[in-house]
Amino acid sequence: MAKDSMVTSGTGLHSVEDSGDCGSLDTMPLQKYLARAGIDSRRKCENHIRAGRVSVDGSIVTEMGVRVIPGVNEVLFDGSPVVLGDEKVVLMLNKPAGHVTTMSDEWGRPTAADLVPCDKYPGLFAVGRLDQDTTGLLLFTNDGELCQRLLHPTHHVDKTYEALVSGIPSEDQLNELRKGGLIIANRPIQPAEVEMASCDRKKNRAMLRITIHEGRKRQVRKMCKAIHHPVIHLHRCSFGPLVLGGLPEGEWRALSPEELSALRAVL
Ligand code: URA
Repeated sequence: MAKDSMVTSGTGLHSVEDSGDCGSLDTMPLQKYLARAGIDSRRKCENHIRAGRVSVDGSIVTEMGVRVIPGVNEVLFDGSPVVLGDEKVVLMLNKPAGHVTTMSDEWGRPTAADLVPCDKYPGLFAVGRLDQDTTGLLLFTNDGELCQRLLHPTHHVDKTYEALVSGIPSEDQLNELRKGGLIIANRPIQPAEVEMASCDRKKNRAMLRITIHEGRKRQVRKMCKAIHHPVIHLHRCSFGPLVLGGLPEGEWRALSPEELSALRAVL
């Protein structure tokens, strides 16, 4: 098989005979793709490939001749996604406490944007917001249309939080949150799923798991305050079908193709 006869597909590397589209305009040599994405010169990108620093769809590539399809194949350099400038991307950040959800802050506070690769993906912005002291899953994208749809009230994307609250709420109080109707900022809240994950009678605090279907400002804190159990710490563990999992605090990762499809499926 000729050296330049490998092409990649969403399911991995296969030969031209399998794909039949090696000459298609949609594919481009891997080293050219890397250079176009600003990783390095084409020659140096060849060296990076030979050094085993580049993977395509999960397989390390060390030989020349592999071609990729922009937007279809997942190319990683040293484990980080490589995308072309105009490509849409969605990232998940595990936001630490103390970072405000803005792209820059007039008071010089640390921002969530400081933690995501804005240089590499120009036009990134946060999908919604988390309070300064809330930790957990925050999405960033450069896809304005997707962002609008995710935040649009008609789509009711579920958001799940772990809320450590002061005191131990009774079932009646939790039912107040479950059935909805409490007035917050002059409007009734919608029903929420609420369960007590654990409680510590010695410390007099409880961990609640709360899923809300709307996205009002400081909503979970206000809900807990309304039942007289103020939040001590708040953490978002999921957004729609996406879960934070083991992503370390302060770190980000690009969504996988499966996660992107699952996200689009809820819209
Ligand atoms: N609800 C809150 O009260 N704060 C957040 O950061 C997110 C949801």
